[in-house]
Amino acid sequence: MQQDHFSHQLSEFEVEVECLMEALFLRWGYDFREYTRASLRRRVARYISDNSFERVSDLQNELIKDKKRCNHFVRGLTVNVTDMFRDPSFYRVIREKVVPELRSHPFIKIWHAGCSTGEEAYSMAILLREEGLGDRAVIYATDINSQVLDQASKGVYHDRMLATAQENYQASGARGHFSDFVSVGYERFLIDPELKRNIVFTQHDLVTDQVFGEMQMVVCRNVLIYFRRELQTKVLTLFHDSLDIGGFMGLGIKESLRSLPNQNRFREIDGPARVFQRVD
Ligand SMILES: C[S@@+](CC[C@H](N)C(=O)[O-])C[C@H]1O[C@@H](n2cnc3c(N)ncnc32)[C@H](O)[C@@H]1O
Repeated sequence: MQQDHFSHQLSEFEVEVECLMEALFLRWGYDFREYTRASLRRRVARYISDNSFERVSDLQNELIKDKKRCNHFVRGLTVNVTDMFRDPSFYRVIREKVVPELRSHPFIKIWHAGCSTGEEAYSMAILLREEGLGDRAVIYATDINSQVLDQASKGVYHDRMLATAQENYQASGARGHFSDFVSVGYERFLIDPELKRNIVFTQHDLVTDQVFGEMQMVVCRNVLIYFRRELQTKVLTLFHDSLDIGGFMGLGIKESLRSLPNQNRFREIDGPARVFQRVD
């Protein structure tokens, strides 16, 4: 059914997507109801076509009955694109403006929310080690998607990612060589197991789960972009309450606090790199 350009009515497909999100929440507690619709609808459309469902409602019927189908679908709903030292200027700003303050802490806790397959957490672990803070830091790396967390905890990546990783690493204000932190094998590169020692990978849903306590920094990049404003506001409070006063927050370069009512609980440390600090 074509949607009338001037009406607020939803198409059949869009209504079915709304029902599907309600069903997913009511039956299994996964709450995607406040995600932006454009990306969500694209993912649902792709999922039903890839998995040979005729209609969204057919998927819904199966999903209500079958937890395994639910997990498979949730994995298909999330966008997991990431890279080592993605947007390298972010890490440059961390080195220049955040690390000097972190040095004053005897023990450092950093939360990477929405860490996907782990590259972001390993990038931070490399940076901290280079800055001499590796031994006193613990990184909590979380995601809603258990499958990407499995991959993350292995720390093994395809070598087609290596050139970008090296390039990004160099552009991040690096002090050494990327090869100091990985071993390269047949079509793969492997993160130094020593780096893994201080990283805890665990499942956490930003929509339904609780605060992580007394962090010196929260990094959540390229996740809020999928959330509607209300949900962004709620998650910003979650980050605020998870941070020590003066703790830092890093967002993705396309993300902004500007329209959020609770934005004044943070001050901007670096605008382009989207680094903020909790003020109260
Ligand atoms: C595009 S990736 C970003 C990965 C990494 N932060 C980066 O910037 O390269 C978005 C990640 O957010 C996760 N995500 C989506 N909704 C989430 C939620 N409610 N709670 C926790 N993680 C979520 C997805 O599973 C995905 O791995």
